Amino acid sequence: MYELLHQMIAPYYLYIKMIHVPAVTVWSFSVIMGYYFFLVPVMQAWRKNESDAGLAIMRNWVFERFDHGVKVEHYAFPLVLLSGVLLIIAGGWGPESRWLMLKLSLIMVAVVPMEIVDYYISHFHGNKRHLREKGDNDDWEAYEDALHRHWWFFLITTPLVGLVILGVFFLAFIKPF
Ligand code: HEM
Repeated sequence: MYELLHQMIAPYYLYIKMIHVPAVTVWSFSVIMGYYFFLVPVMQAWRKNESDAGLAIMRNWVFERFDHGVKVEHYAFPLVLLSGVLLIIAGGWGPESRWLMLKLSLIMVAVVPMEIVDYYISHFHGNKRHLREKGDNDDWEAYEDALHRHWWFFLITTPLVGLVILGVFFLAFIKPF
């Protein structure tokens, strides 16, 4: 079965790679502008002056737009995984490629769990717009909790994500072992 699939898709190796690399790029970099130039400045401004109602409105708006914009990254991620698996089959890659094994370990240990949490807090239970629309107007507690949880998630994971992405790119391009 594996051999048959390998033979069927092997001629398309470079076409699959043409999907993998752009998907990886979109997954890695699509949130950078929104994060560094919108989310971080608005959170810093609000932290300095939490009683300013205008800043709170702006903070909520930016966070909700961020939840929405991160969809681009979250559509790209399954494509990264799928094209990656197809590359392995098409290219006949195996455990002898230790760079690939390390790359996959990093992805399984650090990236996949983080993405699962990220999907959840951006689009499912932690989605801010959804919480705002469903909650009654006097009760902002769930909204505030979700927003702060999400912010802490970013503060903790951002340095890790940066290092892991750098490591995975290094392993994929340089293939040092
Ligand atoms: C999560 C983030 C990932 C990143 C940042 C990433 C990055 C890359 C990059 C930049 C390349 C191009 C290397 C080159 O042309 O020399 C590549 C190739 C490759 N990736 Fe990924 N990848 C990721 C996920 C995956 C996954 C999940 C798999 C497998 C399940 C996978 C399997 C492969 C394979 C087999 C190649 C082919 C290497 C080659 O032809 O040189 N990747 N990856």
